[in-house]
Amino acid sequence: MDQLAVLICFTVFTFTTADDAVNTKAFPKDFKFGVATASYQIEGGWNEDGKGENIWDHLVHNGPFIIKHNDTGDIACDSYHKYKEDVRMLKDLGVNHYRFSISWSRLLPTGFANKVNPAGVQYYKSLIKELKANGIEPFVTLYHWDMPQPIQELGGFLNDNFVDWFGDYAELCFKHFGDEVSNWLTFNEPISTCQQGYGNAVKAPLIHSPGIGEYICGKNMMLAHARAWHIYNDKFRSKQKGSVGFVVDSLWYEPSSNKTEDVHAAEMKRQFVWGLYINPLINGDHSTMVKEQIARRSKQQGFKRSRLPEFTEKEQKYLKGTLDVIGLNHYSTVLVSAQEKPDPSAMGFFVDCEANEWKSDDWEKSGSDWLRVVPWGIRKLLKWIKDNFNNHKIIITENGYSDREPKLLKDDRRIHYIKSYLSNIRDAMEKDGVNVIGYTLWSLMDNFEWTSGYTEKLGIHHVDFNSSNRTRTKKSSAEFYKKVIATRCLAEKCTA
Ligand code: BGC
Repeated sequence: MDQLAVLICFTVFTFTTADDAVNTKAFPKDFKFGVATASYQIEGGWNEDGKGENIWDHLVHNGPFIIKHNDTGDIACDSYHKYKEDVRMLKDLGVNHYRFSISWSRLLPTGFANKVNPAGVQYYKSLIKELKANGIEPFVTLYHWDMPQPIQELGGFLNDNFVDWFGDYAELCFKHFGDEVSNWLTFNEPISTCQQGYGNAVKAPLIHSPGIGEYICGKNMMLAHARAWHIYNDKFRSKQKGSVGFVVDSLWYEPSSNKTEDVHAAEMKRQFVWGLYINPLINGDHSTMVKEQIARRSKQQGFKRSRLPEFTEKEQKYLKGTLDVIGLNHYSTVLVSAQEKPDPSAMGFFVDCEANEWKSDDWEKSGSDWLRVVPWGIRKLLKWIKDNFNNHKIIITENGYSDREPKLLKDDRRIHYIKSYLSNIRDAMEKDGVNVIGYTLWSLMDNFEWTSGYTEKLGIHHVDFNSSNRTRTKKSSAEFYKKVIATRCLAEKCTA
């Protein structure tokens, strides 16, 4: 057995044993339990009542047809019409909060704030009212991947004016809904948005610009977040008293050995997430490690300046301190090693870090290649965030398990996943002192899973996409989660 195999066996053995012993300390009374969805994935009503076209509408109708079975979100879970039923499911679960996103194009059909769609405003007002009437706190994401098509045609995140356009849209949301909403999240997942949308082109808007477009996207996303935060801070905070966070998508990057170069490579991978997207919002700039790495490679490649656009001093001041809470989407872990011979000419988020990543074959599989069940990873990640960002406040905005069964109601593997991840979160809070204020399970129900269409399921309620009713049926995981919320406890009995 080589050194790596020994290490993996040891890691798996140690942590599997620990997983079985679930944490028996009750979650604090003020810990928030919730579930999440996103507009394009559940709403449907894609062109109803004045809604404009967004990039996913555009992609599914015009191609390239890269979505499994050519599925679309035209109807999705039909939540545009069935939101009251959604709220009934939420009420039954007993959640403290519901994370959903606003469809920018439903509110502003062209994307620009000169023309507001009254039916769009009304839809979200009704949803929020229904939630509040049932004692459920709305957690609202402003942007979950559904860019208005007219803004995309002007470059989307690549156009510097995006910062103004997003600011206008955010202001409108604060104005219309802010008296009833205290928890705002600006952007969902910079990596999926920029790296997959503007780097390797696997998600809308399918722009292929590795190592250039994807970093410009990130820069403008940071500045647009800061714009929304400042607008809230200057005009709304004193009256509405809410918070504005940002949602980052992060795996845990575990070094594959104790060798210095592998430990360094794993840290580099973390910096390509946290140093690129969270450091600017907390400390005002990209981390030095990631800046130096991309600058060095850009220079070797003959670029006059780094492919990672720098923030000016003025921008740094504007960005610093604009993160009220870190929203964390975490699903899985990878092993990382240093590349022996990095290709000096390669460009892109996934190669600029000069690291290899892969999943151990010993880790439990789910219904998706990208998702292995590695519960200890979340504890390590939370501890790392605490140590690197001065114990900043964190809310887990997504975590969940996928399967590909047409109708799996007795979803025991999902229960196992939720339980073991929650146990590790509780450990991180209790034993490592991490400031986690809540947990949001993805997802309330099966929905349009982007390029997988309806084949990949992460819901705790099944949705029958063949019935015009979009009938929702409870899975065992919903019963399990309901009990956890009611008892605040993962075991048979917990200590206070
Ligand atoms: C996204 C969700 C998606 C989930 C499962 C997250 O990256 O925010 O929209 O459904 O992962 O793939």
